[in-house]
Amino acid sequence: MNTYADDVVSRMHQSAIEDPEAWWAENARQIDWYTEPSQILDRSNPPFYRWFRGGVLNTCYNALDRHVSGGRADQVALIYDSAMTGEQRSYTYRQLLDEVALFAGVLARNGVQKGDRVIVYMPNIPEAVVAMLACARLGAIHSMVFGGFAANELSTRIDHCTPRVIVAASCGLEPGRTIPYKPMLNEAIDLSTHKPDRVIIFQRDQLHADLDKPHDRDWVAEMKAASPHDCVPVESEHPLYIAYTSGSTGAPKGVIRDNGGHAVALKWSMKAVFDTDPGEVFFAASDVGWVLGHCYIVYAPLMHGATSVLFEGKPVGTPDSSTYWRMVEQHGIVTLFTAPTALRAIKREDPDGSILRSRDLSSLRTLFLAGERADPNTIEWITDLLDIPVIDNWWQTEAGWPMVANCKGLGLMPIKPGSPTRPVPGWDVRVVDENGQETEPDQMGAIVVRLPMAPGAALSLWNADQRYIDSYMTAFPGYYNTGDAGYRDKDGYFYVMSRTDDIINVAGHRLSTGAMEEVLSAHPAVAECAVIGVADDLKGQKPLGFVCLKAGTTARYEDIIEECARMVRHHIGPVAAYRETIVVERLPKTRSGKILRGTMQKIADNQEFRMPATIDDPAILEEIAVALKEVGLAGNRPD
Ligand code: COA
Ligand code: AMP
Repeated sequence: MNTYADDVVSRMHQSAIEDPEAWWAENARQIDWYTEPSQILDRSNPPFYRWFRGGVLNTCYNALDRHVSGGRADQVALIYDSAMTGEQRSYTYRQLLDEVALFAGVLARNGVQKGDRVIVYMPNIPEAVVAMLACARLGAIHSMVFGGFAANELSTRIDHCTPRVIVAASCGLEPGRTIPYKPMLNEAIDLSTHKPDRVIIFQRDQLHADLDKPHDRDWVAEMKAASPHDCVPVESEHPLYIAYTSGSTGAPKGVIRDNGGHAVALKWSMKAVFDTDPGEVFFAASDVGWVLGHCYIVYAPLMHGATSVLFEGKPVGTPDSSTYWRMVEQHGIVTLFTAPTALRAIKREDPDGSILRSRDLSSLRTLFLAGERADPNTIEWITDLLDIPVIDNWWQTEAGWPMVANCKGLGLMPIKPGSPTRPVPGWDVRVVDENGQETEPDQMGAIVVRLPMAPGAALSLWNADQRYIDSYMTAFPGYYNTGDAGYRDKDGYFYVMSRTDDIINVAGHRLSTGAMEEVLSAHPAVAECAVIGVADDLKGQKPLGFVCLKAGTTARYEDIIEECARMVRHHIGPVAAYRETIVVERLPKTRSGKILRGTMQKIADNQEFRMPATIDDPAILEEIAVALKEVGLAGNRPD
């Protein structure tokens, strides 16, 4: 392969790898600094690299103030479109700045200062964006909690990041039901050792919460009493936010993002990767609770001076599969960014694309997909219908922005469905074998990133530097271990195929099977358990539990299965989408007692597998296969 784009991207990639200091110093000029960085990359304490040392900036200033003073005051910054309520609201850059400055004043009068943590527990409503940017304005560190998690998950985060203030909405809206947030928040605070000083509640019309605790305050009343607050300058490496993500145990990892590296990388990515210009309309169909929402609903489009669309609803069923296309037509969306699962849901409802074709989609220039493996069928289906480039891009919470992508803004490379293309300049991504040696083309291995990672990548884990080292930096010295497995073809295109750990991806949501196992183990009848992710046509994967019961258990299997589902929903949340449990006599293990989850998953998905050399009793795999067939898995799919 030797296209013009290939040459350009290869050269850029090479210069960014050979001289990252020069490469990123140039890109740092796109950001407004109070004090310019004196050192572009501090390599003195690996693996804790620091970008733009000596630089002082404010992320909110870069997202709002500079556009207001620079000629974009009356341009729309944010379009809120709720398919749940039918409400639409637009904010110009000036209006958004006014709201954010005032809410920063609210936080400040409630004691929030630079470095304090603030948990934001809100669905996709403009106030969530306001709260995030207000934290950034003060140099406070926000942590967003997705509404689909249970009180227990919220409580874990409260104890872990010890917020001074929690900002929450009174409710979230799911199809057919209103989710009251305040009772869950009260329960979470009751469960926590740490108690916030204040809880600020935004009352939504659909459900008002009882402000029944001494620490409760009303958003509107607080806004009336506050005065606008100016930006607080922060050091480049000062944390902007903590994004909790699933690890292989129940304790989530608090990924720390900095201000300086994040601002430079995200601003650069908007044109280079996402081929979007300032002033154009960008729609990331995600939730502000996920990293994609942080980066590409809020920070990147706003720092770039684009118009960002904030959507509350589902790709189907609110009211139907035309919703995304209705929005493209109505808002003049140029760039759409979503997860493959959303397209699979749309395809199910509109297989021949007649609903899609009934809309004027002429503004749409590119469709980007991330969050899970994009299957070639889905890419080909949507490419035929839209007749625009459909671009898969691979990254993760820890990376903070795409690591492998077809950088359309630098020149579109040929698209190979199933591959997110090549490493983005700045990311030295490799595939290695178990000894850390690079594999030959087309050979599977662990996907790793040679250190230092690009700006914007995780600084560390909150209060857990050693866990950061153990989780990511130890398996392959000198490399960050992404936890993904895949291969590179002879053209240097990457293929991300699976995880190397016990994390599964359900509807683009990253979930820990370890966390689900911790919940199942607490069931009084369960002696032992294992959770795996099995293939699902719509969600990519879905969790499936195996439980062995304690001797003498008399409870009915149906009851135990139902209780298992209820417990996971209660402890982790509905987002875990945990429904199915199989009762088995024994679990397959190695001679050292490690449960063979990977082999079980391959049997469930009817994939070829090699009998592990260390297996204790191979007959157990046959028992598992029989049990899986009984529930329509292991190649026994009902038509
Ligand atoms: N608050 C409360 N509950 C939530 C929630 C939220 N913010 N988000 C999801 N849930 C609930 C759902 O209502 C569902 O509950 P149920 O078991 O009672 O039906 C459960 O969590 C599972 O949700 P999900 O896996 O999303 O399934 P779904 O059937 O509701 O929707 C899709 C399926 C494909 C339409 C949906 O997952 C989707 O739009 N995905 C887009 C991808 C995406 O946004 N990815 C984010 C990372 S890029
Ligand atoms: P999260 O941290 O929640 O964004 O989840 C990141 C994980 O999702 C990655 O480590 C991958 O396993 C998976 N993932 C994200 N994007 C892609 C993609 N484009 N192709 C394949 N897997 C992906």
